[in-house]
Amino acid sequence: MSGQDELEKLESEALAAIGAAADMRALDAVRVKYLGKKGLVSAQMKGLGALPPEERKERGRLLNELRGALEQAIAERRAALEKQALEEKLAKERVDVTLPARPEEEGAVHPVSHVWEEVVEIFADLGFSVAEGPHIETDWYNFEALNIPPEHPARQEHDTFYFHEKADGTRKLLRTHTSPVQIHTMEAQQPPIRIIAPGRTFRCDSDQTHTPMFHQVEALVIDRDTHMGHLKWTLEEFCKAFFETENVKMRFRASHFPFTEPSMEVDINCSWEGGQVKVGEGDDWLEILGSGMVHPNVLRAGGLDPDEWQGFAFGIGLDRLAMLKYGIPDLRAFFESDIRWLRHYGFSALQIPTLSGGLSA
Ligand code: DAH
Repeated sequence: MSGQDELEKLESEALAAIGAAADMRALDAVRVKYLGKKGLVSAQMKGLGALPPEERKERGRLLNELRGALEQAIAERRAALEKQALEEKLAKERVDVTLPARPEEEGAVHPVSHVWEEVVEIFADLGFSVAEGPHIETDWYNFEALNIPPEHPARQEHDTFYFHEKADGTRKLLRTHTSPVQIHTMEAQQPPIRIIAPGRTFRCDSDQTHTPMFHQVEALVIDRDTHMGHLKWTLEEFCKAFFETENVKMRFRASHFPFTEPSMEVDINCSWEGGQVKVGEGDDWLEILGSGMVHPNVLRAGGLDPDEWQGFAFGIGLDRLAMLKYGIPDLRAFFESDIRWLRHYGFSALQIPTLSGGLSA
């Protein structure tokens, strides 16, 4: 066999082997067999030195071509194998996103949790962030810093759960409202402040409309020139978004809270037709929240200078919002853990309320 025939045979064998390599390992074995240090092409290269100069040149050129051709064929085969592997992987891992979630959903999200998420979503859109405070509070945070001194009559209205008195005469308590978070927030950050604080609150009280544990959401906005117009606008935006109607009418009634001055209670219009409350219809009024401009003493207690800063606050009952929006008649049922009640009034865990996708959809 002439030298050239021999190389052609080597090339066709090698190309066949490359084409037949079924995976990366097999391909690499072929590469080593032909192009490795001790491979067949390398052996031919080593033989060049023994040839007469004029043959050496020609054969050297042929060998280089052969090596180039094999390298290219290997690279192409590698790319083809990689593509094939990727396609197989994609086919195997294919997910049909239109299928319903598995396993079948069990359980339901409690209406209070759902409404909590709705409220957070609405205020997040208005630029509020979420703040938190402890359930166990001191007298200072729950009362005194909120301008409710020891003998203030407002204390009686709060039906406070107290812990045992300590040796120094102080006693902790379960917070009776989310307003103490106002003080914690002023201590933790500099204005401008724009927070809501949803959370649990506790009062020693129980009947059809009161439970010992319930939920509120507090809001606090502080800046240099925040005024009642901002408060009113914020509440209107909130009510429209929450009740998902443009029609809701609001009434601001002068009221009194120690921590705000002036203070207002806010009512929304509703109808009681057929024994069921409907918000945004009818001529009846329903109180839904307390609000006002933050009292200078409260700003001072939070370490802020009332000549420099002013703001508004409001507090809403979350359970009450849930009852109103979803027509749930008895507050006590919220906390009875009756699985039938939860199945009826609960929400799908996959229905996360968003402004774009719908709050209660
Ligand atoms: N803390 C009050 C309560 O539990 C509710 C409240 C009223 C909060 C007026 C406020 C406010 O922030 O401005 O009854």
